[in-house]
Amino acid sequence: MTETTLAEALEAEHHEIDQGIYAFLNGDADGLERLHAVFAELRRHIYLEEVYLFPPLREAGMMAPVFVMLREHGEMWQVLDEIDAALAVNPAPSSSAAELCRDLLTRLDAHNSKEEPILYPELRGILSDSAAEQYLAFLEDGERPDGWVCERASAGAAAAPPWG
Ligand SMILES: [Fe+2]
Ligand SMILES: [Fe+2]
Repeated sequence: MTETTLAEALEAEHHEIDQGIYAFLNGDADGLERLHAVFAELRRHIYLEEVYLFPPLREAGMMAPVFVMLREHGEMWQVLDEIDAALAVNPAPSSSAAELCRDLLTRLDAHNSKEEPILYPELRGILSDSAAEQYLAFLEDGERPDGWVCERASAGAAAAPPWG
């Protein structure tokens, strides 16, 4: 029997999120629905990483890569909010939401291509089997607590001038 590792499940979720964004950009019939679904998935994914995975990685000496990941989460979180706002005005993929989605895809690619080879391989040696199992189950049907936002969510907003 092959068991899916937590790293594999996290990587699979990265791909699933990309595909949902492409479904929207391609104008698929269920594209908007899938986009909303993968946005919830991405925010939940970031929650799992920041609350449960990054602290032990940081303790294991991965401070610098975790710092970069947190910053990128903050930037992506802001883009997610901007896309939600654009969709509220116009839910069509030809709107400004599409441009923001392409920006998000670029950011996700840059983020995941560091997270997957640098951070995820370390999880195996750091997490207990029971913790890894618990997080695998969370990826199946866990929920981000209402109102939780990532650590650096407001970093971009705070840096913007009040008149911007
Ligand atoms: Fe991730
Ligand atoms: Fe991440």
